[in-house]
Amino acid sequence: MKNFASVLILILIIGFAACSKKSNPAKVKSITYSGDILPLLQAKCSPCHMPSKGGNKANFENYEGAKKYGAELLARVIKNPTDRGFMPKMNPKLSEDEIALIRKWNEQGLLEK
Ligand code: HEC
Repeated sequence: MKNFASVLILILIIGFAACSKKSNPAKVKSITYSGDILPLLQAKCSPCHMPSKGGNKANFENYEGAKKYGAELLARVIKNPTDRGFMPKMNPKLSEDEIALIRKWNEQGLLEK
């Protein structure tokens, strides 16, 4: 009887652990211009797209400017470095994580903050 009780408790614990995992799905984090995209663009698209750094290409330094090119930003960074129009020009391709960030920003509707 003691054994049966232990087994029962074990099953309950495992069942509970499995359920609590399911009922707590990974939260989807909102990707925003001010929190995620601006720091990335400042790090990777400077100085060319940063007027304050002397850049004279499409301005990504403010939300309106970056939003206007939302889909184009993604289109440019997923190109191969040898393709015409690849960005960041004359720099290494962005990492998978960085590209995923820009993709999510687009999918979530180009949020500002
Ligand atoms: C070394 C300078 C340089 C860097 C760094 C750079 N770009 Fe550019 N970018 C340019 C030039 C020059 C053009 C204009 C020629 C063209 O459209 O390909 C341009 C154009 C663009 C355009 C098209 C804008 C338009 O007017 O249609 C996009 C979008 C873009 N870049 C995205 C990026 C992104 C995103 C990064 C950073 C990950 C980046 N660029 C980094 C030089 C740069």
